[in-house]
Amino acid sequence: MKPLLIPYPKQIGFSAGAPLLPADAPVTFTYAPGLGEEAYVLKTANGAVNVTASAGAGRFYAEQTLMQLSAAGGLREGLDIHDAPAFSYRGFMIDCCRHFYGVPELKRLIDAAARFKLNRFHWHLTDDQGWRIEIKKYPLLTEVGSKRSGSRFGGVNEGKPHGGFFTQTEIREVADYCAARHIEVIPEIEMPGHFTAAISAYPFLGCTGEPMEPVQKEGIYPNVLCVGSDEAVSFMKDVLGEVCALFPGRYVHIGGDEAPRKRWQACEKCAARMKRLGLADYDALQGSFIEEIAAFLREKGKTAITWNESLRGGCLSPENVIVQRWMDRDNLCADFTKRGGSVIESDFYHYYFDYPYGMTPLRKAFTYDPAEKTGAQGILGVEGALWTEYVRSFHDLCQKLFPRLLAVAERGWSGAPGRSYADFTAAVQALLPLLGEGVAPMLPPDRWDPGMRRRLKEVASFFKGPLSADTLRQLLENRE
Ligand code: ACM
Ligand code: ZN
Repeated sequence: MKPLLIPYPKQIGFSAGAPLLPADAPVTFTYAPGLGEEAYVLKTANGAVNVTASAGAGRFYAEQTLMQLSAAGGLREGLDIHDAPAFSYRGFMIDCCRHFYGVPELKRLIDAAARFKLNRFHWHLTDDQGWRIEIKKYPLLTEVGSKRSGSRFGGVNEGKPHGGFFTQTEIREVADYCAARHIEVIPEIEMPGHFTAAISAYPFLGCTGEPMEPVQKEGIYPNVLCVGSDEAVSFMKDVLGEVCALFPGRYVHIGGDEAPRKRWQACEKCAARMKRLGLADYDALQGSFIEEIAAFLREKGKTAITWNESLRGGCLSPENVIVQRWMDRDNLCADFTKRGGSVIESDFYHYYFDYPYGMTPLRKAFTYDPAEKTGAQGILGVEGALWTEYVRSFHDLCQKLFPRLLAVAERGWSGAPGRSYADFTAAVQALLPLLGEGVAPMLPPDRWDPGMRRRLKEVASFFKGPLSADTLRQLLENRE
């Protein structure tokens, strides 16, 4: 039988019946600066383990491989692994805004992700329903913006106030925790849309100046940042200045998705910005704003990431911004990569794990080829996303994420589809104990790939009514 590893190594020699090594077999480490940052070589011979890696993550990844082999059947003589990932970006996103999950929960997810060689934690920290990161210069962002008086997602009235935020000390703690596991944290500070919580704290940030409260339900809301206001734009640069100082990584995600144009259309300041810059439409207005923020971040030594909607303005420069693709009907990401841009693949129908397994079964996530929508060129990597509108407990969060996130870990390492689905699920089953109760309990195997009748039932009950033609088409396209 093949070794039960996730992700499966790039190159592996083994003989299935070889003798087992004792559990306390000595491990020797050889430093090889020439190997890639994340690469390692692992061999077993004469009752001992030899690891070769450079100083960086490679050694850590060899340790994860050893840990997995020990957990699933034990280490055998004659192993010869030469391993390295296909993609440098292998991520997972957690939304801490719609429902708040704190440091202890995040640490468990980070532990789980690290065991499968994921290396980016995209931390969604601000949204309409809550601002979750302390900003020293603007304390009302959390004093006011982190609390809402109720929650009514999906029509379910939770009947109590909801709040929570991360202090800067806690943020540093999480970033350090990640760094020790070779995971880079990418904070997401949403702009110009998904911005109601910020406007609740500082109404001048919106086009109308009207007071409001953080939102209690799912959806897309009209109260966006006034990009025509110099004060509002400076405010966001102040916020990002603190964010840049706080996070050690190279990326800052600045949102850019789902920003309605209604407020801008009625705003004199936004009209003046458009006139001053000669912008033809509101897509160009967003594009120019994203470019301005990306240039600001670049001065601070950071690279901006934005959701694919920001490409509609036609002005993003591939040198300044990385684009994260989730839903891109006009295939603008493909044009962007042809111009030399880099894209992170988070396809809504395959890598959005807030939806039921009936809509996104494990097999569907596993078989997704990141080159399918955008082409092979310019893909920086892959990311699984977990939005939490309907995720009201950590247990549910873990079950939605696992094992589907392991499909992302597999693909992020292997690049194109490689091993069979049967081999993959056998490895998931064998490694189940690594995600036991203390870490991130995963969904039981009989629910990973529901049959079509069950799929339709799960999806209909999730959407609480008739399915859109698009969702139905996707379901039928992916039927097994
Ligand atoms: C998104 O799902 N709105 C990025
Ligand atoms: Zn405005």
